Amino acid sequence: MNKLIIAPSIIAADFTHLADEIAACESAGADWLHVDVMDGHFVPTITIGPLFTEACRRASQLPLDVHLMISDPDRYIEDFAKAGASHLIVHVETCPDLIGTIKKIKSLGCAAGATLNPATPASSLDAALPFVDQVLVMSVNPGYSGQAFMPEMIAKVEEIRNKLNALRSNAHLEVDGGITVNTLPLMYKAGANAFVAGNAAFKHPQGVGQGIKSLRASVAG
Ligand code: DX5
Ligand code: ZN
Repeated sequence: MNKLIIAPSIIAADFTHLADEIAACESAGADWLHVDVMDGHFVPTITIGPLFTEACRRASQLPLDVHLMISDPDRYIEDFAKAGASHLIVHVETCPDLIGTIKKIKSLGCAAGATLNPATPASSLDAALPFVDQVLVMSVNPGYSGQAFMPEMIAKVEEIRNKLNALRSNAHLEVDGGITVNTLPLMYKAGANAFVAGNAAFKHPQGVGQGIKSLRASVAG
């Protein structure tokens, strides 16, 4: 099992204090910074793109875990690689040639991830699973921070964990959406090792540092 990874989702940060927010994540021991790119087409919302990713890159040494919620991601993966993305995660729903896209991401020097919406079955990843560095299971419909966790996704994590184990893959199994101190342990037990957190991190009443520490402590025993 890979180590426990906490990845605060930067779209829930206060952008007027971006560098301070990122520094607070680093001091609290965040492992990755999760960057949610939305295009107003694949998902209803428009958020951020390569320019913002590049600003995060300059503000931090942490791996940038870039989640592309965009149509036709092949058109943009080079831009995000150049902007400093460490991981590029694409949605299976947007990639007619998922294995080709995964290979292209790796050829650009990034780790390659595949993700799927709650309604998309785990089997849609089967062919690409041997090639990925990470799988991201969405536990909300992508589009916004602050939505309620979908408990039906626990079984999907178990299913994908079993498939990765059968392949003897050491890919990260990450979850995204409604992760809190209550839902993180459920997904950890199901076999996830990496946890995205927007609201539970940045909107913690005692600040993002405490938010990250509380999430980690929720499974530390
Ligand atoms: C959802 C995004 C998430 C979001 C998570 O569409 O992909 O990364 O920022 O936010 P919370 O943890 O608040 O659900
Ligand atoms: Zn995300």
